[in-house]
Amino acid sequence: MSIQFTDIVNKLPASVPFVGPEAQERSIDQLFKARIGANESVFGPSEKAISAMKKYLSEVWMYGDPENFDLKHALAKKHKVNFENIVVGEGIDGLLGYLVRLIIEKGDNVVTTDGAYPTFNYHVEGFGGNLHKVPFCNNTEDLHNLLDKVKETSAKILYVSNPNNPMGTVNKLSDVQTLIQNLPKTTLLCLDEAYIDFVDDNFVPKISLDTKNVIRMRTFSKAYGMAGLRVGYAIGEKDLILNFEKIRNHFGMSRISQVGALAALEDYEFISDVINKVKLSRNRIAEIANNNNCKFIPSFTNFVAIDCLKDSKFAKKVLEHLINNGVFVRMPYSYPQNRCIRVSVGLDKDIDLFEKYFPVALKENYLKQYFSNPKLY
Ligand SMILES: Cc1ncc(COP(=O)(O)O)c(C=O)c1O
Repeated sequence: MSIQFTDIVNKLPASVPFVGPEAQERSIDQLFKARIGANESVFGPSEKAISAMKKYLSEVWMYGDPENFDLKHALAKKHKVNFENIVVGEGIDGLLGYLVRLIIEKGDNVVTTDGAYPTFNYHVEGFGGNLHKVPFCNNTEDLHNLLDKVKETSAKILYVSNPNNPMGTVNKLSDVQTLIQNLPKTTLLCLDEAYIDFVDDNFVPKISLDTKNVIRMRTFSKAYGMAGLRVGYAIGEKDLILNFEKIRNHFGMSRISQVGALAALEDYEFISDVINKVKLSRNRIAEIANNNNCKFIPSFTNFVAIDCLKDSKFAKKVLEHLINNGVFVRMPYSYPQNRCIRVSVGLDKDIDLFEKYFPVALKENYLKQYFSNPKLY
């Protein structure tokens, strides 16, 4: 006799949605010199947040407030919503897990974009849901076909990230609004807005809080520079939000995370400064792409997808070359987006290293490909 795992777990591969840069460093036996692959913010958190967290360090013998009361109040004020419309959780990743647990049972259908954020898929598979994937259209999530797929499969959740990862594009405001209007009432739209701080207001949809089938997710991991703190939140209709109370890890938010996020919210200047730095770095990455006869995908995020204008094998080799030279970048994992590599914005010194090794990586590959099949050139 031995312990019995659930049917679902027995069928799951032992996988992680993303191999962490630390694991990669261990496998290549060197530390990265530039960490520009995980869409973190190299600009770090605001000084105000750092000093608040330092001040409260000696209090970590206490659990954090399980209601996240102060932080939820501040978030409600920022978004002009009520306290009851917000749930705080361990990053968007944690909240996606709770959301899927609330809605998905074995065999339920879920719709997403092929190649979109894989952590959502990981949770769906973990609860036995069936994923239906719709291809990107012109590097953008295809809201029209996603809606058709929802109707065809009677999906219980539709996942849309806006702006999206890994291509960095954004959907038109009117298209998001049309999607919401036409979505069946039995389908919940999970609008992942991890990168929304980087877009102008005219891309941010206004969604009535009475809309029972939309939940939007936000994070402190990107513009706020606090990925390691694990703070995210969701905004939605109050009954929907109330259901999270039945399943969430009530002591999941550390005391330091709550204090840090709260202080960060009050530092408006910091955020606009980060947004400017992100724009500058994005422009520089785009210029490097151009200078190397590659194509960049115009980005609304803190990263840029660079089309190496060959196939996925080529892009993978370019990526490997960069990684082996201490430059951590990533690439989309599904066709045809996997012809690209994805470079997060960085400090000048990070982008300098990318600028140095990218042409070498491209050249080595062109040469290798040329010699293996000169007829193609
Ligand atoms: C689209 C998207 N959603 C969510 C996340 C993760 O957010 P968090 O750090 O809040 O879990 C990421 C991180 O890269 C992302 O790209």
